Amino acid sequence: MSTPLPSPIHPSPSPSPLVQIEEVQSTTKTARIAVHTHVKGLGLESNGTALPIAAGLVGQEKAREACGVVVDLIKSKKMAGRALLLAGAPGTGKTALALGISQELGGKVPFCPMVGSEVYSSEVKKTEVLMENFRRAIGLRIKESKEVYEGEVVELTPEETENPLGGYGRTVSHVLVGLKTTKGTKTLRLDPSIYDGLQKESVTVGDVIYIEANSGAVKRVGRSDAFSTEFDLEAEEYVPLPKGDVHKKKEIVQDVTLHDLDASNAKPQGGQDVMSMMAAMGKPKKTEITEKLRTEINRVVNRYIDQGVAELVPGVLFIDEVHMLDIECFTFLNRALESSLSPIVVFATNRGVCNIRGTDVLAPHGVPVDLLDRMLIVRTMPYSIEEMVQIMSIRAAVESIEVEESGLKALGEIGARTSLRYSVQMLTPANIIAGTTGRNSVTEADVSEIDELFFDCKASARLLAKSDGYLK
Ligand SMILES: Nc1ncnc2c1ncn2[C@@H]1O[C@H](COP(=O)(O)OP(=O)(O)OP(=O)(O)O)[C@@H](O)[C@H]1O
Ligand SMILES: [Mg+2]
Repeated sequence: MSTPLPSPIHPSPSPSPLVQIEEVQSTTKTARIAVHTHVKGLGLESNGTALPIAAGLVGQEKAREACGVVVDLIKSKKMAGRALLLAGAPGTGKTALALGISQELGGKVPFCPMVGSEVYSSEVKKTEVLMENFRRAIGLRIKESKEVYEGEVVELTPEETENPLGGYGRTVSHVLVGLKTTKGTKTLRLDPSIYDGLQKESVTVGDVIYIEANSGAVKRVGRSDAFSTEFDLEAEEYVPLPKGDVHKKKEIVQDVTLHDLDASNAKPQGGQDVMSMMAAMGKPKKTEITEKLRTEINRVVNRYIDQGVAELVPGVLFIDEVHMLDIECFTFLNRALESSLSPIVVFATNRGVCNIRGTDVLAPHGVPVDLLDRMLIVRTMPYSIEEMVQIMSIRAAVESIEVEESGLKALGEIGARTSLRYSVQMLTPANIIAGTTGRNSVTEADVSEIDELFFDCKASARLLAKSDGYLK
């Protein structure tokens, strides 16, 4: 989900040998922490029961087990077009559970998160925003058999000639690439355009690559495992030496979403088959995605599914704060959920009975009853003090803050009095207070000092209720 930050090593021309790469990496890792960083999955056993503390989640067993069932339904593709509603008080882990679901599904199943208020834009129709997100949540796995040259690079020599246009520059006229497999080595003499591709993928000697025979596209598979001991970098993926001939047919699997296909074909350039749709993906010029184009793409996709070339992977569309949607969006959702190309939609809300936006009709969760009727509802419960203390200690570990037992207990009590979010937010300021007094672990005293400095929302509201319009 998070994109790695650029490495903080200075781009000096001759890097000092004293810089240790491992060390630099670890600091960037712990430096960026978001609200849900500690959530790594749903923490279920193989039989589906929730472990008390696992994968960064604490308690909330029933809701986690329910989410586990949903994950199984999604994986067995039995839940397309259905919907789940996570309902519960603020700070009871609805968003955290949705992220847990996405972690359990893994990277191959599309997960598209959005917030209800995202649909309001002055440029794009509300339903258009919803439609786009629906299609971002439906994946298509395309299997193709392609003619490729594959192997470990043993030679990479660009051959230069005088620039034919005169001047002093030299140009690459062709490139010699030696590819090795278990069967032998072959040297290819390739076009300079492929040399660009090789540079883009930063291919060096010792990498395993393949070059598509008809398009010339270069793909770096990984580093040959003969080199696996040379560095200790986690980022590198080691792959075995390819088997068979260098020139062969290879099954290539690609994962795209329907929205990728829409966007890349908004201005159609090629034919109407999946392959030219895919080829259009990298091209930047786009026009508006029309309903007509979507129907056309659906038709082609359905044909390829029937032929067995492509496989549909319904993913998850997560709509947080669903009470922010209005009546027009809800009627659209009713219809969209019934389409044959529909993802699983997970909604979340913390509202009880309130107005449906855009009407003066009261409804549970601010969602029309006919849509609620299509949903499975999962309730999240408030946490006990012990659970809050455990969540707090997980957060403290993620933020690498040392907190003493008594400090954690004090934070848990604050959480019970106010909210989980508020007490999680107390962690960093309490650590700063501890730092100013020269300690490196947070004590109970630090926590109560911080608690006096800040107001939680309930305390602030109580104070405001007493004032008559002005703050005094
Ligand atoms: N069971 C849990 N285990 C560990 N951490 C949790 C758990 N539940 C919530 N948290 C953490 O507590 C914080 C608040 O939870 P979250 O944002 O998921 O609440 P929410 O139900 O979405 O609230 P809201 O209704 O206000 O959106 C987050 O940092 C979340 O990661
Ligand atoms: Mg939330």
